[in-house]
Amino acid sequence: MTIATNRKVLITGGASGFGLDIAREMISAGAKVALVDKSAQNLALATKELGSNALSITADVRNQAELLAAVERANSEFKGLDTLVISAGVIHIKPMNEVSEADWDLTLDVNLKGAFFAIQAASKYLVDSGRGRIVAISSDAGKRGYSQIQAYCASKFGLIGLIESCAMELASSQVTVNCVCPVGVPTTGMGQEVLDWKIKVGNTTPEAIKAATAQTNPLGRNASETDVTKTVSFFISDEAAFLTGCALDVDGGAHLGFFPGVSSN
Ligand SMILES: NC(=O)c1ccc[n+]([C@@H]2O[C@H](COP(=O)([O-])OP(=O)(O)OC[C@H]3O[C@@H](n4cnc5c(N)ncnc54)[C@H](O)[C@@H]3O)[C@@H](O)[C@H]2O)c1
Repeated sequence: MTIATNRKVLITGGASGFGLDIAREMISAGAKVALVDKSAQNLALATKELGSNALSITADVRNQAELLAAVERANSEFKGLDTLVISAGVIHIKPMNEVSEADWDLTLDVNLKGAFFAIQAASKYLVDSGRGRIVAISSDAGKRGYSQIQAYCASKFGLIGLIESCAMELASSQVTVNCVCPVGVPTTGMGQEVLDWKIKVGNTTPEAIKAATAQTNPLGRNASETDVTKTVSFFISDEAAFLTGCALDVDGGAHLGFFPGVSSN
C-alpha cells in the first residue's frame, strides 16, 4: 500500500480511538496531521505522543465557524490540505421513550451535520491539491438497524448517503469520497462505552462479551483499531485512486446471511 509522500491530513475526532490511530499511521507514512477535537485534554496527550508533525486544534464539529477556522488553520500551517478523515462521533443507548430531544440532536449534529461541515470547509483545498481524499467512519449500524441506538443508526445511515452525494459532486475534481463501516471495537472511547453497557445489561464480564463476540463472528475474532486504520489508509493510498462512493464493511463477515435454525452455516 503506497501513501503518497507529504500528505496533509485533517482528522476530526483525532484525539482518541480510530482518529488517533489513523493519525499515528499517517505520520509514520510521512504526513502532517491536524487533529481537530473538542477535548483539549486528549488533544494535548495526542500531540505529545505524535510529535512535531501533529497540529492540535480544539473545535466542536457542530459549529460551522469553528470547523471552517480549523480547516483554514491546517491549510495555512501545512500550505495545503489533501486528506480529510471524519471520525468525530457520539452514541447514546437507551429505549426510545427515554430519548430526549437533546440526545437526538447531539447525535445527529456531531455524526452527520459535523461530517457535512467538515467536507464543506475542506473541499476547496482538497480540490486544489489535485489528489484529494475524504474517508469517513460510518458503522455497521449505518447498514443495519440495532435496537436502542435509533439516532446513532439514523446518523450513520445518513452519513453513507452524504458520502455518496459528495462522491458524485467531487468526482470531476478528482477527490475520492468513501466511508468504512466497522463493527464494534471495544478499545476506543466509544467502544468502551458500548462494552460497559453490554456488561451492565448482560450482568457479565468484558472477557465473556469479547469471547461471545468472537464466537459469533464469521472470521472468529473481535475487530481491532488496526483493522479500521488499515482500511482507511487503503482508501487514502495510491492503489485506491479509482474507488469513490464506497461504504466498505470492516466486520469479519458479520453482514453475511446465515440459515436460521441451522447450527453450522
Ligand atoms: N468503536 C466502535 O465500536 C465503533 C464502531 C463503528 C463506528 N465507530 C465510529 O468511529 C468514530 C470514532 O469513534 P471511536 O470509536 O474512535 O470513539 P472515541 O470516543 O475514542 O473517539 C471519538 C472522538 O470524537 C470526539 N468528538 C465527539 N464529539 C465531538 C465534537 N462535537 N466535536 C469534535 N470532536 C468530537 C471525541 O472527543 C473523541 O476524541 C465515530 O464516528 C464512531 O461512531 C466506532
